[in-house]
Amino acid sequence: MGKDSLSIIDNRTDKTYELPLTNGNIRSMDLRQIKKDADDFGVMGYDPAFLNTASCQSKITYIDGDRGILRYRGYPIEELAEKCTFLEVAYLLLNGELPTAPELDAWVDLVTHHRMLHETTKAFLEGFRYDAHPMTMLISTVAALSTVYKDARNIFDLNSRRLNMVRLISKMPSMAAYAYRHSLGFPYVYPDDLLSYTENFMTMLFKMVEPKYVAHPVLARALDILFILHADHEQNCSTNVMRSVGSSQADPFVCTAAAAAALSGPLHGGANEEVLKMLDEIGTKANIPAFIDKVKTGKGKLMGFGHRVYKNYDPRARIIKWTADQVFAVTGKNPKLEIALELEKIALEDEYFVKRKLYPNVDFYSGIIYQAMGFRPEMFTVLFAIPRTVGWLAQWEELLTDPEQKIARPRQVYTGYEARTVVPIEERSQQPVAAL
Ligand code: ACO
Repeated sequence: MGKDSLSIIDNRTDKTYELPLTNGNIRSMDLRQIKKDADDFGVMGYDPAFLNTASCQSKITYIDGDRGILRYRGYPIEELAEKCTFLEVAYLLLNGELPTAPELDAWVDLVTHHRMLHETTKAFLEGFRYDAHPMTMLISTVAALSTVYKDARNIFDLNSRRLNMVRLISKMPSMAAYAYRHSLGFPYVYPDDLLSYTENFMTMLFKMVEPKYVAHPVLARALDILFILHADHEQNCSTNVMRSVGSSQADPFVCTAAAAAALSGPLHGGANEEVLKMLDEIGTKANIPAFIDKVKTGKGKLMGFGHRVYKNYDPRARIIKWTADQVFAVTGKNPKLEIALELEKIALEDEYFVKRKLYPNVDFYSGIIYQAMGFRPEMFTVLFAIPRTVGWLAQWEELLTDPEQKIARPRQVYTGYEARTVVPIEERSQQPVAAL
């Protein structure tokens, strides 16, 4: 066995450099010593979209994409989904250990206590147009919480930081429910302290004029499991945004709003809404082959398929399929399930998808379950943002307490013009405008 290092020969200078390996990785900053001459800036790694760049060390979530493994703080996702509640898992993600019974009671009490929204936040939500997208309303309202809790800026004060983290976790379902009710023109429902996290959320969403809305226990547990599956996923697009904005020492409300904005995109959390649109577009099983052919010729994507990290079946998709059976036993089958199952079967056998290691991801089935539970597609990404807030906050706190972290500021490789002078406007000839 050789040393834990890499030797690099710079063929421009014939110099050899020895770069230490820590946990099997080099530090990119060690490349900077490799220079052509004293004036040279030094070598950097060029890595658009961070395909091979670790931006932090983390103890929170472990993924082995090739083997389809996902663990929170060392615990397999399958075991957590089977044996724990979402708030138990939230405690685990934030504190590193599963709670004891008294710790869990205290934690649940705390989260329950902070569910109310300030009346000005309600008024803020009322200002949105009747047809505003619930995810956009949620993003804006989360940012607006920063105007209510000014102590949120004290991010290095442990008590203040933790209080505002709890506020976010507690109030996300309240804001989400208000946004949903607003888009339907229904009056807002206040939280009920006697109910669990998901029962209360379902009540705030679905209660009409009945004196007491009772969430179906199977559906409330299914939602709880879905929340566990979505709680964290290490350095995904939105978490990277949370860390990046957090690195400027912005408060947790605006950081979370930024992360939620990243989540809303169709290539990330917005994919579950797109899956439903796609299944609607396909319409019947008979149209699947033509749709697959279209995807293979580059006209569109098979939404809910593919993942940057999983090059094997997404373990969350497997649990979601199991959860779907529980939900459909109560609600009846969503007719779209048949099309989704057939689509998956065909795609998993097709060389195009096999060769590219494209498997269903968490979003492929979640939308079908949510729809069967009575959610409209515009709510799907909102349902993702609620539990992911826990992961974002755990990662944000880890960043703040990591002495190695600084403000995130990537480098670039400049490929534009050399310095040039401004030509007076009357002397300029029309030039083709560079594509932006
Ligand atoms: N349908 C068809 N082809 C696909 C798909 C897809 N869903 N995903 C990737 N490909 C193809 C690409 O066109 C590319 O083909 P090529 O090699 O011939 O050019 C190849 O597979 C590799 O794809 P990349 O885009 O390089 O993979 P990347 O890791 O950058 O993207 C992503 C991952 C964004 C998730 C992508 O698979 C995708 O767009 N999927 C659909 C959207 C989706 O479901 N997003 C949810 C992800 S899970 C989450 O965020 C919660």
